Amino acid sequence: MTASGTKPRKLFIKTYGCQMNVYDSERMAEALGGAGYVTTDRAEDADMILLNTCHIREKAAEKVYSELGRLKPLKAANPDLRIGIAGCVAQAEGEEILRRAPVVDLVVGPQTYHRLPALEAAVRAGQRPVDTEFPEEDKFDHLPRTPRTRRAPTAFLTVQEGCDKFCAFCVVPYTRGAEISRPVDRLMAEARDLVERGVREITLLGQNVNAYHGAGPDGRDWSLARLIRAMAGIDGLERIRYTTSHPNDMDDDLIAAHADTPKLMPYLHLPVQSGSDRILKAMNRKHRAEDYLRLIERLRAARPDLLLSGDFIVGFPGETDADFEDTMNLVRAVGYGQAYSFKYSARPGTPAAERAGVAPEVMDARLQRLQALLAEQQRQQQEAMVGREVDVLFEKPGRMAGQMVGKSDHLHAVHVADHRARVGAVMRVRITQSATHSLSGELV
Ligand code: 5AD
Ligand code: SF4
Repeated sequence: MTASGTKPRKLFIKTYGCQMNVYDSERMAEALGGAGYVTTDRAEDADMILLNTCHIREKAAEKVYSELGRLKPLKAANPDLRIGIAGCVAQAEGEEILRRAPVVDLVVGPQTYHRLPALEAAVRAGQRPVDTEFPEEDKFDHLPRTPRTRRAPTAFLTVQEGCDKFCAFCVVPYTRGAEISRPVDRLMAEARDLVERGVREITLLGQNVNAYHGAGPDGRDWSLARLIRAMAGIDGLERIRYTTSHPNDMDDDLIAAHADTPKLMPYLHLPVQSGSDRILKAMNRKHRAEDYLRLIERLRAARPDLLLSGDFIVGFPGETDADFEDTMNLVRAVGYGQAYSFKYSARPGTPAAERAGVAPEVMDARLQRLQALLAEQQRQQQEAMVGREVDVLFEKPGRMAGQMVGKSDHLHAVHVADHRARVGAVMRVRITQSATHSLSGELV
């Protein structure tokens, strides 16, 4: 029962896509918490279901409509159930969603979810509101203060949002809007609050996080490197990561931070998309393959054990066999610890969507070859950890009794069967085994 004596309503949020959506879903839950909602992890119990959606590739967007199909029976069983679409599909399709899916009661884009309480009230008054504005006010300033509940040891913190790069294949500049950075003092306050609530590792998020240039307390714009160094000064915060970065925004100071800031973890997600200069140009990435390779050299000079992760697109319009071989060669030259690879998906409204695509069977074959190479590199880099000692931040009990799981500095999942391993502690582990997606070891 709430203070006013009414029974709290239940909110179920399903999150798709990137980590920024994970962070946004938490903020949406807090916004609706102020309107009397508590979260549930069972859709069947919910009074309100929000799908926080992703529009990056066609498959991701289509998932939303198939999920809505699955939710139909719940709505039939409970006429009071409200269903909302949030996130990037909401932004891209707006009103169209209401037409295509009669079960949907409200549509809210990624920049206006602080208005959810008002939108929810409108739904209860019988309307079907759509809010996909890019408002003047900052949504982060309008969210209720977080309840001071205990948190898991790792957390995301959005520091920058949107993108001005306009890669020819990408919807982000349209769905998330122009690049904006949050001010330093708010981020420091949020980080301190997270640490007081038990967080030991913070991942700074942004679609272009290394382009961060937020207003500092000294009236100057701070770079991401400066923000990271300031956060490293927070007692109790043990690890800092950041994602996702663009090669052209890796400045000297950020590279130096990898050498001089021990709390900054030796893992970097630095997408290159293709190894062909011709395709990089057609993608509007504004750098050559060689520039990327030189950058990796400088990063590795600063932090020799840096583990690299990346994103790749195969079958971008105009990609020839030779272009694809350039990508394979770049992957061989870098040696990734982990990577994501996708078939090109034409997104309405993006420049590349106008261009003739590569045949689907060619794309399939290329993706298979690239993924086999990336999987082999991942396997080798994991194998190389066996016999070594690593620091592990324990996050939760594992699937087997007595087992704990955490992440190493290099973001490898590590299993340990030892009752001394505690959630929230960073402990030294000797790696004894490498499996497909995780390592296991013993406390030292
Ligand atoms: N088709 C395929 N992959 C895409 N990505 C972004 N847009 C597309 C698209 N239209 C991939 C890029 C990006 C990652 C988040 O998703 O590799 O880095
Ligand atoms: Fe999309 Fe390119 Fe911006 Fe990344 S940098 S969000 S791929 S437009």
